[in-house]
Amino acid sequence: MKRAIYPGSFDPLTLGHVDMIERSAKIVDELVVGVLNNSAKNSLFSLEERVSMIKEMTASMPNVTVASFDGLLVDYMKEIDATIIVRGLRAVTDFEYELQIAQTNHVQNANVETIFLTTNLKYSYLSSTIVKEFASYGGDISNFVPACFIDRIYAKYHISK
Ligand code: PNS
Repeated sequence: MKRAIYPGSFDPLTLGHVDMIERSAKIVDELVVGVLNNSAKNSLFSLEERVSMIKEMTASMPNVTVASFDGLLVDYMKEIDATIIVRGLRAVTDFEYELQIAQTNHVQNANVETIFLTTNLKYSYLSSTIVKEFASYGGDISNFVPACFIDRIYAKYHISK
């Protein structure tokens, strides 16, 4: 059985992330969306909020679960018996960073392999940072995130639409 992890901060989950989850769930037996509990990062949504939003979006996907982790990804993967990391590549600018992480993780644990999916063209410009930047100015984020999250994101900036 191939258990994979799709790790990230997901602050917040974007339509690009949802697309990645849907596509990678089709090619592995079990996909764990691993939400990083990064206390150093000043996140917009709490860890609990991020996990619950992703659970909401993946409820109908039978082989997808959502969990949070802290510490090293390779350590967490050992804990849950996962051997595959899924990451998305949007553009060449992602490549250098992703290559470095993938190689480091493989050096740490030779059983760990990273697979990359190229981001859907529709979302290749998209990132959680872009969502936050637009939302903070009251900009239109309907093409960026699932519709059910829009109000929750504006609410973080005390914007009601
Ligand atoms: O969505 P992000 O912020 O680009 O995700 C980055 C993530 C979570 C994949 C990466 O920061 C990570 O794996 N962090 C856990 C700590 C770790 O294992 N660091 C070593 C990687 S070189």
